[in-house]
Amino acid sequence: MNSEDSVRCAGRTELRGAFDAAAADFTALGRHLWEPIGAVAVSMACLQPGERVLDACCGTGASAIPAARLVGRRGLVDAVDLSEPMIGELWWLSKDLPQLRAHRADVTSWTAGGYDVVQSALGISCFPDMAAGTEHLISLARPGGRAVLTIWRDGAMLAAGRHLRRAITEATGVPPPQSREPRPVERINQVDSYVAWLRERGLVDVEVAVNRLALTMTPEVAWLVIAGSGFRGALAKVPAHALDAVREFYLASLRDEGMAELDATTLIGSGRRC
Ligand SMILES: C[S@@+](CC[C@H](N)C(=O)[O-])C[C@H]1O[C@@H](n2cnc3c(N)ncnc32)[C@H](O)[C@@H]1O
Repeated sequence: MNSEDSVRCAGRTELRGAFDAAAADFTALGRHLWEPIGAVAVSMACLQPGERVLDACCGTGASAIPAARLVGRRGLVDAVDLSEPMIGELWWLSKDLPQLRAHRADVTSWTAGGYDVVQSALGISCFPDMAAGTEHLISLARPGGRAVLTIWRDGAMLAAGRHLRRAITEATGVPPPQSREPRPVERINQVDSYVAWLRERGLVDVEVAVNRLALTMTPEVAWLVIAGSGFRGALAKVPAHALDAVREFYLASLRDEGMAELDATTLIGSGRRC
């Protein structure tokens, strides 16, 4: 595993803590990152009025909210996330959408099934057992139902982690801990490998679309990328008095490298349950 990715990959408890702490910044980053990604992912699901949808790892609703608008009041979106603050934000953001039900739960043990569509934007790579968790999600679609599962493409977001790691080291004198094991998603984050992996999970008619996105790294957005995402987990061990210095070193590091854009390309995998 390379060093920048080790910053991005927190353990399960750290990841949960990171998303809990990040909820407000997560929403602020959403306009630039999560919402454009969620909108394209939802368009791949071809949702129809009246359909029943499971949105797994919903965050603050980047894909659940547009899905709820498309299925309308005769439809249903069960939006599930581990993080209480995320679900709280989503509840507030979706007050005018009674068809969207926000649940705080571990979706890998969600039991309601028979959905027309199961979707997850950037959620499945968080599962401790990515293959088993994804198979569970697919099993919750009705036979013939669709699954739309989005992951980062190889290399996406990594540069932000590299600059953050450098900044934490400069500000504290201690580099953040590095994981040694590659995460399962790193083996499948290209089109062909993702197609094959989704077929192995039991999907048919599999397609993987590349959704290219380059995030303009204004100082505000560049810091939201850290504060409003899983990268925030790396800040948890930084002493409070060093946080401002981390931010300044991080922004300076981006400037020194002339980094005006961050690759935020995703792979949107879709298919049908047999
Ligand atoms: C990168 S965020 C994506 C959120 C949202 N889908 C979006 O696109 O804005 C990943 C989310 O997965 C949630 N998550 C991780 N593991 C989960 C699990 N087992 N069950 C439910 N939610 C989970 C986290 O709390 C976090 O909100």
